[in-house]
Amino acid sequence: LESRLSMGLVNSPMHNARIRVSSGNYVAARPVGVLDGIDFGHTGRVRRVDVGGIEKLLELGHIVLLPPLGYSPTGDAFNLSYEDVGGQVAAALQAEKLIMYTGNQGLLDDDSQLMRELSARQASDRLAAGMVHGHDGDLLRAACDACVRGVRRAHIISYADDGALLEELFTRDGSGTLVSSDNYEQIRQARVEDIGGILELIQPLEEQGVLVRRSREMLETEIGSFVVAERDGTIVGCAALYHYPDESAGELSCFAVDQAYRRAGRGDEILAMIEKLAKGQGIQRLFALTTQTEHWFRERGFQPSTVRELPGLKLASYNSQRNSKVFVKVLA
Ligand SMILES: CC(C)(COP(=O)(O)OP(=O)(O)OC[C@H]1O[C@@H](n2cnc3c(N)ncnc32)[C@H](O)[C@@H]1OP(=O)(O)O)[C@@H](O)C(=O)NCCC(=O)NCCS
Repeated sequence: LESRLSMGLVNSPMHNARIRVSSGNYVAARPVGVLDGIDFGHTGRVRRVDVGGIEKLLELGHIVLLPPLGYSPTGDAFNLSYEDVGGQVAAALQAEKLIMYTGNQGLLDDDSQLMRELSARQASDRLAAGMVHGHDGDLLRAACDACVRGVRRAHIISYADDGALLEELFTRDGSGTLVSSDNYEQIRQARVEDIGGILELIQPLEEQGVLVRRSREMLETEIGSFVVAERDGTIVGCAALYHYPDESAGELSCFAVDQAYRRAGRGDEILAMIEKLAKGQGIQRLFALTTQTEHWFRERGFQPSTVRELPGLKLASYNSQRNSKVFVKVLA
């Protein structure tokens, strides 16, 4: 790796790149010891990471290259696993990300399907249940430990697929397995910072006449009524719940899922969240007005209703030109 990082041939992308690579005794190790009667000799585990030393080199612009070797205060050298070194160093440095390479596309499940994302909790449950074996187990343990200790994301990607790193970092779905310390995707109450994302999501649907137009100002006033589905910092779904307390009624509105993320149950999850909020507010009848999504609602327990059944305030603002159909669901 050092020789590759030192390359500078004229006809290579490394021409004139002067990359300083530093290695050293930044990882202290301890012996694994004797396990089940077997002495592991010079096989060790990470004991401590010299964070100050590494940070100084990073400040100087060096690439710090740590081999899977560690030294002990007794003056011995130990052979470490690279997953252990990577995970521990990432955690000690409170790195933004840990990226590990493997021969497969990422981690595969029992049916040899790629596991795209796992929360640290799901990862540790799989490890505890003995569902991940061999090298995959080492990778997942390191990813999980790093996440539990404050690294937000750990990626396990292929060293064999050209472009796997770019795809992992710059596409929403990535190329390998992502282990994250936080909820990678969540449905939650919207905040003012989400307005830009909501507008981006709904504008194409407004242009197609599927959703009623809403200005940024309107969204700012109504943001408290919105829930959003957020995936890795991007808004991929939203819905609003308007409450008409005098009639114990509510309206589900501005309901949308990003085109690229449809047909994966997000609509159902958003609806479930809206229904839960509605029940919490004492709403007994949940209305939805739609021009093109009638069957989606009917398949989810909404019954055809009429404009006259709408709560008074909503009735007053009903746009007869749009001629939306009215559906209602009685919340148990
Ligand atoms: C309606 C919408 C929110 C559903 O989101 P989603 O994440 O795809 O929903 P789910 O994954 O839970 O459900 C997908 C199912 O709904 C069906 N569906 C999607 N749009 C539909 C429509 N307009 N009419 C009937 N069924 C529809 C899909 O075919 C799929 O069913 P299938 O797999 O059995 O074929 C999404 O399609 C959307 O944003 N549509 C445009 C905006 C819209 O119409 N909003 C409602 C205005 S009131």
